[in-house]
Amino acid sequence: MAIISIASTKGGVGKTSLAFSLAKDLGYRYATNDMSVVLNKYKNARYYPNKIPLHPDTVYDFGGFDAQHADEILRASDIILVATINDLNSIMKSLIFIKNYKEKTILVFANMIDNPNDAAMIRQKIHEHFPNLAFTYLRRTKLLKNALETGMSARELYESSKHTQHVYKQAYSEYHKILKLFTTDGQYFKGQTQ
Ligand SMILES: Nc1ncnc2c1ncn2[C@@H]1O[C@H](COP(=O)(O)OP(=O)(O)O)[C@@H](O)[C@H]1O
Ligand SMILES: [Mg+2]
Repeated sequence: MAIISIASTKGGVGKTSLAFSLAKDLGYRYATNDMSVVLNKYKNARYYPNKIPLHPDTVYDFGGFDAQHADEILRASDIILVATINDLNSIMKSLIFIKNYKEKTILVFANMIDNPNDAAMIRQKIHEHFPNLAFTYLRRTKLLKNALETGMSARELYESSKHTQHVYKQAYSEYHKILKLFTTDGQYFKGQTQ
């Protein structure tokens, strides 16, 4: 049982793509305040343009960030994934966001990473301000895009053939690390916060 929120103060960083795959792989509801293609691809997807209800086992995708409506859900979330890309503005905005929610369990999700060194640099920048904050990254990959397009989750797409297992090997291992956090043996179900 968990409420997972994915947020960012910047669009186009991969929130919707990740939220859909995580929701489907966990068997969770996907809920958003932003119109997205997920609504046509996933039967357990809900769109709430105004007030968003709190519901267990849900991945909230806060696109079209409306702080007023999102804030209540964010405060009630078991974990907030703060999505960023390798861009100074995106990182800075993430730091400001984290500051506002620093009493929450936060996982920084650096997306579209071209080089592991870039991920290390982002992690360091975050840790300068918030030491020990949980951090994970996903390389630049078509895994999430192709998954969403076909209506399959990242795991379903990866597992669909030998070919996809080959093509998405590295990206899937990074995605799986994130997914694992929320499955029964994951750290977020053992009450650990970092
Ligand atoms: N790891 C990634 N590598 C490359 N492209 C990505 C990655 N994650 C997401 N994308 C692509 O980036 C674009 C924006 O993603 P989206 O999930 O809509 O972002 P957001 O919801 O934050 O606006 C989409 O075209 C998506 O397929
Ligand atoms: Mg979106």
